[in-house]
Amino acid sequence: MYYHASPRNTALLFTGITSAVIAVIVTLAVLSATGSLQQNNNGGSGNAQQLAAMVERELDRRNSALEAHLVTSLMVTMPDELVENGAAPKHPAVAQLPESERKRILVTGGAGFVGSHLVDRLMTQGHEVIVLDNMFTGRKKNVQHWIGHPHFQLIIHDVVEPIMLEIDQIYHLACPASPPHYQYNPIKTIKTSTQGTLNMLGLAKRTGARMLLTSTSEVYGDPEEHPQRETYWGHVNQLGPRACYDEGKRVAETMMYAYHAQGGLEVRVARIFNTFGPRMHPNDGRVVSNFIIQALQGKDMTIYGDGSQTRSFQYVDDLVDGLVMLMNSNYHLPVNIGNPEEFSVKQFATLIKDLTGSASRIAHLPATQDDPHKRKPDIALAKRELGWEPRVHVHDGLAHTIAFFKGVLKSGEIVPTGPKAVKPGFQHGSP
Ligand SMILES: NC(=O)c1ccc[n+]([C@@H]2O[C@H](COP(=O)([O-])OP(=O)(O)OC[C@H]3O[C@@H](n4cnc5c(N)ncnc54)[C@H](O)[C@@H]3O)[C@@H](O)[C@H]2O)c1
Repeated sequence: MYYHASPRNTALLFTGITSAVIAVIVTLAVLSATGSLQQNNNGGSGNAQQLAAMVERELDRRNSALEAHLVTSLMVTMPDELVENGAAPKHPAVAQLPESERKRILVTGGAGFVGSHLVDRLMTQGHEVIVLDNMFTGRKKNVQHWIGHPHFQLIIHDVVEPIMLEIDQIYHLACPASPPHYQYNPIKTIKTSTQGTLNMLGLAKRTGARMLLTSTSEVYGDPEEHPQRETYWGHVNQLGPRACYDEGKRVAETMMYAYHAQGGLEVRVARIFNTFGPRMHPNDGRVVSNFIIQALQGKDMTIYGDGSQTRSFQYVDDLVDGLVMLMNSNYHLPVNIGNPEEFSVKQFATLIKDLTGSASRIAHLPATQDDPHKRKPDIALAKRELGWEPRVHVHDGLAHTIAFFKGVLKSGEIVPTGPKAVKPGFQHGSP
């Protein structure tokens, strides 16, 4: 399984062993230099025993530290069933930050796909995290491994309602992100992006917290500029089926900068391009999850339209890097966070078919309304201002995601969601 001997874990192991050996050598050198070994009255053999005991203790200490590192590294990719069965330690290890550096961070939408990975990162870094989620598309199992940890709280709450909390930073993610989910109740989606964002801005203003909004490449609509730079104003159909999401995010951005200009609030805006990885909702109707599930089940891989429309896909770990770097940077204007490697949807279907070794056929369905023809971020700004660029190759990210969906499929057949509005967890509207 992919989490066992990943290059990252192997590197960690190597680093740990190397540092343990170095520590022992340094300990020995210091001891003999200070003559502390000679202070024992037991003579030569006593010194040797004392030395052996010291070396053993030092090795034990180093081993424990190394284990803690490895547990953290494994748990963030641990399959849910291991955690649920109690086969895994209850909580992943977290860094011990001094009180002065430990922040109390609110993550709205933290039980969703991206949010739960962000929570893993912030918890592992040693911060206190409060997740606020109404569980529309979020799932408790995404954050289950943190429940009961003294640094973690899960609050079931809808951001459309105000809430009083004491916090230092807000990552505001709450909003369904896939078209079938955000179109299920468009009025609610608009309220979430507008009233929900206003509530979080009010909270940020009262507490003096810095706030990051997860905006989207959808603010560019069906773009006439390619690749899309942050200066592009976009091409959105304000009356179309995607408008509840696209316009909702556009006005959320406007509100962020109004609070910045008028109230002096510290704001950050990430314009996220298509992201994929483990914990995507199996029925989110997005191209990555649909193709993988269809390929693994040997069903037709369905493309809407002729498949010449392009998309760029980033792995979720890269996005989390970008969000944390942006939050902690001095740059306050919108920043694209995405992988500029561009695929046509047809190419992407073929890639997933190859990676899964599937015998599925590729089939075409009618194009969906207002589906963007091209999507590719210009990330020069992120490189310059944050020093960020994607590190995970799409193939490697897909391998992790395919492994995740193989695990999900063990629980039974899944019918991928089609383009029609659908409530999360329901399977109607399937192609
Ligand atoms: N995943 C992507 O490719 C992508 C691309 C662009 C932007 N984004 C943005 O990133 C954020 C997270 O996206 P995701 O892919 O993790 O989606 P997701 O649907 O998995 O997560 C959204 C989370 O928000 C919660 N939520 C929705 N409405 C809420 C409300 N009114 N009150 C409280 N919680 C609410 C959901 O229950 C869920 O946990 C969203 O803001 C989305 O717009 C994601």
